[in-house]
Amino acid sequence: MKKLRIVILMHEDLVPPDSTDGMTDEQVAPFKTEFDVFATLRDMGHEVHRLGVSSDLGVIRKAVRTIEPHVCFNLLEEFDGVGVFDAHVVSFLELIRQRYTGCNPRGLMLAHDKALSKMICRYHRIPVPPFHVFPLGRKSHPRPRKLEFPLFVKSLTEEGSVGISQKSVVYNDEELAERVAFIHRTLNTDAIVEQYIDGREVYVGVLGNQRLTTMPIWELHFKKLREDAPRIATGKVKWDYKYQEKVGVITRAAEDLPEGAEVTIPRLCKRIYRALSLTGYARIDLRIDNDGHPYLIEANPNPQLAYGEDFAESAHAAGIEYDDLLQRIINLGQGYQLTGVG
Ligand SMILES: Nc1ncnc2c1ncn2[C@@H]1O[C@H](COP(=O)(O)OP(=O)(O)O)[C@@H](O)[C@H]1O
Ligand SMILES: [Mg+2]
Repeated sequence: MKKLRIVILMHEDLVPPDSTDGMTDEQVAPFKTEFDVFATLRDMGHEVHRLGVSSDLGVIRKAVRTIEPHVCFNLLEEFDGVGVFDAHVVSFLELIRQRYTGCNPRGLMLAHDKALSKMICRYHRIPVPPFHVFPLGRKSHPRPRKLEFPLFVKSLTEEGSVGISQKSVVYNDEELAERVAFIHRTLNTDAIVEQYIDGREVYVGVLGNQRLTTMPIWELHFKKLREDAPRIATGKVKWDYKYQEKVGVITRAAEDLPEGAEVTIPRLCKRIYRALSLTGYARIDLRIDNDGHPYLIEANPNPQLAYGEDFAESAHAAGIEYDDLLQRIINLGQGYQLTGVG
């Protein structure tokens, strides 16, 4: 294997130390992805540089000029505190003809807009929940007739289940108006209201630019949640370790899927990946309703890449070990056809 010069782009506050010896899991948690990627690439023999980025593109230009990396490993999920700005950072890398891992700017932009991505998918006859956008700044919010309760209310653009709790499922017009106002007020973004898909939640990792590989279908389970509570990935389910333990959150290879789903779901996820112009790697989130019909909930380009998290775990189940996974992501970054480069 060729030894490469790699600059890892990461949030300024998450630049990991050389070693986490003596630190507790809780101390490591905020920068676990950054550390896992850094330490693994270093141990593979690559020349690895950690670059903290917050609100200045100049640091990237300078590092690219002085280090001349073969590839930038992109772990940025925001720029200057704004999630959707991650696409612009990647655009900057394209402008300076720098190769990078993960998704291209167009894919990032399309996937981060939960309405636009569903419009494109619907054009391709990919099943998506019916939805309606309630823009910020508009006073009254009449509910379109095609949307029947229960509905699900969330931010159009935020990630990581910000603003998502059991109250996101609404059962009448009053609750709907209240939750839309909550999203507007607390997140300052448009709100999207979708048909609530009751059923199972599955995730499919996809790897590739043109030729795509899918990982085994992964499923979210709650072993100890009240029977009548909606089974959804709220902020607490994703980030609160104590709550995870309390309700028994686990993810694992999905079993007893509806007939044929082992074949049709990965195929569907590849179509979604292509429809949204994704490249590099992504995790497609779906829900399967109680009649066995899958619906796209969200496509996540550049998903969480920590060792032991869903993406790496499902890759492991497919026989792709963590170092191999990172190397494949790098190879895809190097192989991606940059615009304007012959
Ligand atoms: N239409 C829906 N029906 C049922 N559950 C939903 C729906 N939309 C979102 N959810 C639940 O909320 C979670 C987070 O929603 P998602 O759109 O993936 O936002 P985020 O970008 O914050 O992850 C999903 O994983 C799912 O559990
Ligand atoms: Mg999601």
